[in-house]
Amino acid sequence: MQDTGLHNMDAATLLAWHIAMGADEAIDDECVDRFTAPAPQAATVQQPPTQQSGASPRVQQSRPGVQMQAGTGPRRVEARPVQAIAGAGQAAAESVVASCKTLDELEAALNAFDGGLLKRSAKNTVFADGTRGAPLMIVGEAPGADEDQQGKPFVGVSGQLLDKMLNASGMSRDKDVYISNVVPWRPLGNRTPDQAVITMCLPFIRKHIELAAPKAVLMLGGVSAKALLGTEDGITRLRGRWREIDIRGQKFAALPAYHPAYLLRQPALKGLAWRDLLAVKRKLQSS
Ligand code: URA
Repeated sequence: MQDTGLHNMDAATLLAWHIAMGADEAIDDECVDRFTAPAPQAATVQQPPTQQSGASPRVQQSRPGVQMQAGTGPRRVEARPVQAIAGAGQAAAESVVASCKTLDELEAALNAFDGGLLKRSAKNTVFADGTRGAPLMIVGEAPGADEDQQGKPFVGVSGQLLDKMLNASGMSRDKDVYISNVVPWRPLGNRTPDQAVITMCLPFIRKHIELAAPKAVLMLGGVSAKALLGTEDGITRLRGRWREIDIRGQKFAALPAYHPAYLLRQPALKGLAWRDLLAVKRKLQSS
């Protein structure tokens, strides 16, 4: 077997390496060494048609078109085409959302969409939480570990801060707030989603805003604000100033604000975030 050098690392270094690669959660209670564990028996494989009569010695024909693989040795896995790993792309997303007329249809379309490696590595597609038809729609960046686990946006520590701030301002997700993210799948290792992923997901969140039809959109963090406003400006420059998101000619008032995760690291900025939330309340009362 190829020497990867991993066996020379101490356990802590190896663990840190796995976390950096995105393997930051246990998927079972017991450890399994996948290199030595026997492959599942009798896996079915599709073979290309052959000119020779009879199947190869390791493959038995069970019914037309389906062949059973005998033995318990390691199973050969065909490489997936790069296109499938990358995901279906923005053009496919645009065409999928074009036919969605309701939030339920959009959610079903997103669940069926080929979100590439990101979707395959996530436990859940995180669509939305809160109240449909609410006057305020909050759009974050992407799910973290807790959101991926529960299938709902902003349920971890930054979600708890968000709820506290909303409640203090007299709002709540049970009543007047609807919440989603630009990217519906947890990025590996909690990284910032890369531009290709954001571009692919953009048609979904734009359609989501259009169908949710809020009076105002609160964009939490630079990823959300940059994606929805189509700008390269950073959140420090953007926050606190009302902008418009134009979706197929419909204009949505949108305010960029600091992300609660950033506020947890920079508590001194909570005053500005509070000011932004009060600006949102005023906007909702005046519209
Ligand atoms: N951060 C986000 O941007 N969205 C979530 O849902 C959770 C954390």
